[in-house]
Amino acid sequence: MADFNSVIEEVRSRNDILDVIGGYVHLQKKGSAYFGLCPFHNEKTPSFSVTPSKQMYYCFGCQKGGNVFTFMQEYENMTFREALQALADRAGVELPENAYSAESKSRDDVRRKLLEVNRAAAIYYAYQLKSPQGINGRDYFRQRQLSDETILRFGLGYAGVTRDGLVRHLRSKGYDDRLITDAGLANFDERDGLHDRFWNRVMYPIQDGGGRVIGFGGRVLGEGEPKYLNTRETLVFDKGRNLYGLNLARSTRKDYFILCEGYMDVIAMHQAGFGNAVAGLGTAFTSGQATLVHRYVRKVLLAYDSDGAGTGAALKAISILRDMDMTVRVINMLPYKDPDEFIKNLGREEFEKRIEDAEDGFFFEIRMMERDYDIKDPGSRSDFTHALAGRLLVFEDEVRRENYLTAMAERYSIPREQLANAVRKKAETGEYRPRENPRSGMRNGSNDDPVLRNQRNLITWLADEPAIFDTVRKYVEPDDFSDPIYREVVTQMYKDMEGGRLNPAAIISTFTDQEDQSKAASLFNTVLVIDDDADMGMALHDLIYMVKKAAVEDRNNSDVIDEESIRRNINDKRALEELRRATIKI
Ligand code: GTP
Ligand code: MN
Repeated sequence: MADFNSVIEEVRSRNDILDVIGGYVHLQKKGSAYFGLCPFHNEKTPSFSVTPSKQMYYCFGCQKGGNVFTFMQEYENMTFREALQALADRAGVELPENAYSAESKSRDDVRRKLLEVNRAAAIYYAYQLKSPQGINGRDYFRQRQLSDETILRFGLGYAGVTRDGLVRHLRSKGYDDRLITDAGLANFDERDGLHDRFWNRVMYPIQDGGGRVIGFGGRVLGEGEPKYLNTRETLVFDKGRNLYGLNLARSTRKDYFILCEGYMDVIAMHQAGFGNAVAGLGTAFTSGQATLVHRYVRKVLLAYDSDGAGTGAALKAISILRDMDMTVRVINMLPYKDPDEFIKNLGREEFEKRIEDAEDGFFFEIRMMERDYDIKDPGSRSDFTHALAGRLLVFEDEVRRENYLTAMAERYSIPREQLANAVRKKAETGEYRPRENPRSGMRNGSNDDPVLRNQRNLITWLADEPAIFDTVRKYVEPDDFSDPIYREVVTQMYKDMEGGRLNPAAIISTFTDQEDQSKAASLFNTVLVIDDDADMGMALHDLIYMVKKAAVEDRNNSDVIDEESIRRNINDKRALEELRRATIKI
């Protein structure tokens, strides 16, 4: 193992990050870093940075970052092992056989096999659609006016009427029953044995952002229940963190996504030339999906169904997206139900117009809210004014709030002064509490739990200023960090710093999972926002104290009560008290 880590480190150090990334992205020097247009999201001004001294890259727009390995994994859609091999080849390093650590190898292997069997299933379904038995599926798609090109682009397929066609096919390809079941492609029961999950349905393979098949949606032909059957959650199919169509939408050069409700909506939109359409995976839009969208664009147009359920879903999506500081607009689909019907009836150009005329998300929310009031009635009208005042407080930025206030006063013919007073009163009485965790200058991934934020800030500070190491180590130990990735990073940082040299890029390499790598990388790339005139020693003291205090409280709340933990509690309390009184100078 130790041997293998040194091989990884050798490969990394022999591939200068500037050379490697420079082969893909046009970079220009600015200070101690190089900047270019981010290859991972759409942008017009460069926020993608490469820092040779750290041997790392980081995008200030989409927060992706890492070392040469991460870059190859992200850019070329490689696994860690593939990236390692490619970079070893590039530098002429011979990789030892069987060097991969057993644990990470098996974890990677399971995921890879699941993706592989999903891919094999997608190919099988696509083949079935073309075969003589696929006639019903072909008829169905023809009736929905899908072109052959569209069917190919989305890899659409058909699951026939046999009970175990897919199972038999996959077995013949050498996949074992366990894997087929783990991928959610088949179920077992006493009577029928292992049988296909999908039966007599048209099949929509669901791909992740990198185009790998992670699951399926299967639709009944015509009427029937359930209309859609989706793959259950599996190790590779996370419904809250993927979007249908993202693999295609991410590379359109538009600065917004069109968010739809259904698979068929996305397909119809793409066929009509709107390649930036995406949809959720049969569940309500989640903040995980918002984070995903945020990697690529800052604007979202909602093309949800025009019925009551669609409106309710749109309202929820607006609030989630706004919490991520994204601009949201709502496309009016009336008199049609969804984008698919709209396009079929009125065509592409009319839809373009609807995009132009899309309604501001806040206007939409208030218009929906207004339906609950009778604004001709003085009593109800006052209630509406107060409710509106409360809603205006979602805008933390004063200028924004003022602008919306003016617009609302005008639209609903409320004297501006009156509405402004109502807002002020609402704010004072604290009837409305703004977001619990406003996104701050420390934008570091989607997780804005204040405890984690403090932990991140401390790690970042330590990475930027190794001089504070002795102070930090005196009070904080790796165990005080609640996130396992943070804990691992800190353990390694401490080790590095004891040896005298921090090597962030090498620390990143020890994580094989891409998400983990990005998370670790972001710790080394956040910009700390500290007021110029703040006393640095006091700021550091407060930060260390908050991190320690949260850790101690966390341990106190643990259910385990044994001699060891009681002793620990006493020590914790003493250390915390000592820390509280300490003066830190830097
Ligand atoms: P059609 O145009 O009728 O083919 O479907 P659609 O893609 O327009 O879907 P619809 O607007 O009816 O539903 C939106 C999304 O919700 C679908 O794409 C599915 O992801 C999901 N969905 C719809 N019906 C069901 C169902 O019966 N079960 C599950 N699990 N999901 C469903
Ligand atoms: Mn539809």
